[in-house]
Amino acid sequence: MTVNSHLNIKVEKNIWNIRDMTSMDLDDIIAIEKKSFPTPWTKTMFLESLSSEIYKNLVIEENAEIIGYIMLYYVMDEAHITNFAIKPSFRRKGYGAKLLSYVIDYFKEKGVVEFFLEVRESNKAAINLYRKFGFEIVGKRRRYYSDTNEDAFIMHLSLRWKKDKQKVRLAG
Ligand SMILES: CC(C)(COP(=O)(O)OP(=O)(O)OC[C@H]1O[C@@H](n2cnc3c(N)ncnc32)[C@H](O)[C@@H]1OP(=O)(O)O)[C@@H](O)C(=O)NCCC(=O)NCCS
Repeated sequence: MTVNSHLNIKVEKNIWNIRDMTSMDLDDIIAIEKKSFPTPWTKTMFLESLSSEIYKNLVIEENAEIIGYIMLYYVMDEAHITNFAIKPSFRRKGYGAKLLSYVIDYFKEKGVVEFFLEVRESNKAAINLYRKFGFEIVGKRRRYYSDTNEDAFIMHLSLRWKKDKQKVRLAG
């Protein structure tokens, strides 16, 4: 926090940071997970992803407090988002978008050009966020979520076209 002595106004300065997830973070993450999903991942599921070489697991912090996370696995030029949440009291502040933008840029550097995920049909917040990044609904998995029998939309973002277009432009 900084204090403007002239106007005597306290100005909140929120410092945010994105870093790799570790097993030390799991208590905070599981607390967010439980508030975010009807069937939360167990600690074992988080540990499996953390120990996998094909996973990228990130947390976002505000003023050193963990306020969200995203987890993806990748094979060749494809990445799949498997888990993603922001702590309820920090939602609608742009942190989900920051995390998604960071991870897409990270994978773009590695040559990953296809992104996939499943999302509950009723999850308008997440669907809107993914659409903002260019994801499109490409299919549906019937009764994918056994807790509510809800269908899942399969969403897909391809950077391939953009990448090829850039190549053509460079060649021309
Ligand atoms: C989905 C989620 C990660 C979004 O995180 P967030 O930090 O609140 O998102 P942002 O503030 O970055 O919002 C970015 C955009 O997403 C969309 N969005 C986010 N929350 C929304 C809501 N409640 N209603 C409608 N659109 C919403 C908007 O387009 C928003 O842009 P805008 O604020 O300019 O309108 C968060 O709501 C969450 O953790 N939900 C529970 C877990 C979950 O559903 N995860 C996704 C599983 S697939």
